[in-house]
Amino acid sequence: MQRQALAWRAMGIRVAFVPTMGCLHAGHLSLVQRAQREVGAKGRVVVSIYVNPTQFGPAEDFSRYPRPLSRDLALCREAGVDVVFTPTDAAMYAGQAEGSYSTYVVEERLSQSMEGRARPTHFRGVTTIVTKLFNIVQPSVAVFGAKDWQQAAIVRRMVADLNLPVRMLVAPTLREPDGLAMSSRNRYLDAAQRTQATVLWHSIQLARKRAQSAPVRAPVLKAAVARLIATQSQAKLDYVEFFDGDTLEPAPRVRRGTHMALAVFVGKTRLIDNAQL
Ligand code: PAF
Repeated sequence: MQRQALAWRAMGIRVAFVPTMGCLHAGHLSLVQRAQREVGAKGRVVVSIYVNPTQFGPAEDFSRYPRPLSRDLALCREAGVDVVFTPTDAAMYAGQAEGSYSTYVVEERLSQSMEGRARPTHFRGVTTIVTKLFNIVQPSVAVFGAKDWQQAAIVRRMVADLNLPVRMLVAPTLREPDGLAMSSRNRYLDAAQRTQATVLWHSIQLARKRAQSAPVRAPVLKAAVARLIATQSQAKLDYVEFFDGDTLEPAPRVRRGTHMALAVFVGKTRLIDNAQL
């Protein structure tokens, strides 16, 4: 992959890159379309499919994360993706099992809150694998989904802090007709849980409505969201936060334009969502 990418670079061919963990859905395909628009017919679009072990905690769903590779490849072919990069663990983390893999990329500020607090080693895994993928794929543009808002903010900061020659694009979250954000993890939900999972979207709408006319103190709105989540028997709030969408600094008062993110367990499945209010 890296040899091919360097050859393209030498020929002046631009690469747009969409990193994924596979189990592709319409949300991923919208990132591919955005990538295609960015580099045009003369460019190349590379999608990586790699379930990155270092961004999963020990009690998380790494081993059962869905890996429908042939279906993913068919979707990429249909979407006109030029190259799908599907590295093995051995290729990406040679020697990790024996403890000889020892270099990580760590963002130290934006990764302390929300997902970073709930999943302490998660973002170190993300920034490390994204750096490795950037070095291999040599993209001029990379497209991330807004669904993982904090991830996108952290990668953007990493790109700036480390002078990586990549332009970061963030494309909007795609939703099911009832508002549930598209996610590969939605397939873990049974029918009853799938219905209850719309509570994330309803929480965003509740906050949006409450913050529309006048600013609301964040604890008041957090309590309102917690009460709404508690109405669903299988839902358990992990966190809800209100913050500045660029800096991720907490917003003591929530108003129009404030960003909101939440994580909710529905049964055993942990779902996240976010939006600008
Ligand atoms: O968002 C994801 O799917 C992953 O975190 C990413 C960016 C592909 C890194 O493994």
